[in-house]
Amino acid sequence: MLSKLNELEKEITSFGVNSNETLEEYRLKYLSRKGLLAQLFEELKTTDKEQKPVLGKKLNEVKRLAESKYDEGKASLESSAKKSEDIDLSMPGRTSSVGREHIIIRTLNDFCRIFQNIGFKVATGPEVEDEFHNFDALNTPEYHPARDMQDTFYIQNNADDTKKYVLRTHTSPVQIRTMLSNKPPIRIISPGKVFRNETVTPKNYFMFHQVEGLYVDKNVSMKDLKAVLNYFVKMYYGKDTKTRFIPSYFPFTEPSGQLDMSCFICKGKGCKTCKNTGWLEMGGCGMVDPNVFKAVGYDPEVYSGYAFGMGIERFAMMKYGVTDIRLFYQNDIRFLDQF
Ligand code: DAH
Repeated sequence: MLSKLNELEKEITSFGVNSNETLEEYRLKYLSRKGLLAQLFEELKTTDKEQKPVLGKKLNEVKRLAESKYDEGKASLESSAKKSEDIDLSMPGRTSSVGREHIIIRTLNDFCRIFQNIGFKVATGPEVEDEFHNFDALNTPEYHPARDMQDTFYIQNNADDTKKYVLRTHTSPVQIRTMLSNKPPIRIISPGKVFRNETVTPKNYFMFHQVEGLYVDKNVSMKDLKAVLNYFVKMYYGKDTKTRFIPSYFPFTEPSGQLDMSCFICKGKGCKTCKNTGWLEMGGCGMVDPNVFKAVGYDPEVYSGYAFGMGIERFAMMKYGVTDIRLFYQNDIRFLDQF
């Protein structure tokens, strides 16, 4: 019986399992209830007592070999079957989606790049600002309506801190920070988030983005302000774009202006976007108020400058025909994917 077992071991090792048919053939031949191994177990019962342990051990070894060969053969046939199922060369390829800049950040960067090309440096400041930088130094005294609780988010501070903090309501405090830590000439552009405690509607959100500009030197005039903003709209919207300046009021500029540009949708003829006026409002601007210079220690008799501030969301809404500002911040990929 021992020689039979050795023979069988060799046979099993060299048996080629390479298809479902040969696997089944193998199973029937060795492992089934009437297979060779079962027959040998029967035979073992009748062998004499002394040989039984040796033969029994060998027989179990051969059985384990036969079983593991069966399991391996089965697994390898299954995995190759699965592989050939997975690859269907007639299927269209899968597109992988690539991340991109949010449309608001892209608009912000596009704006900044135009100003950077003519010598403006990007400056940034904190979103949690103190009242001095956000209001006082910008010639916005305590009684000014812009400081009303309705518009400003106040931050609760430590009891031992006497300063009051706010979420900045505009990017103008970056003007103050830049002037306090630099000497003229100054030429900066400052992009960033601003916050206002406003009722959320399709047109208003409690957070939005602005770009601030500031130029300070000797002999800076309104002419320079108009020239640079004209340059900007022509670069961004095309050379036929026109600007106009309407008198306005801001505490930190004197004189102050509202900057309008000819409607880029209808080219000034009148349409829904510009409410048939042919003009779109872009932001505020003006000549830096002498009180602002005094607050940062510049002599207003020596230096003059201009400043401007523009809201980004409004631009993007007009440009892409977005009618609800909230869409920008709901992170719905179907919306964001369009830009
Ligand atoms: N800070 C103003 C606002 O948030 C915008 C602005 C107006 C900025 C005139 C300026 C400026 O720098 O000169 O409404």
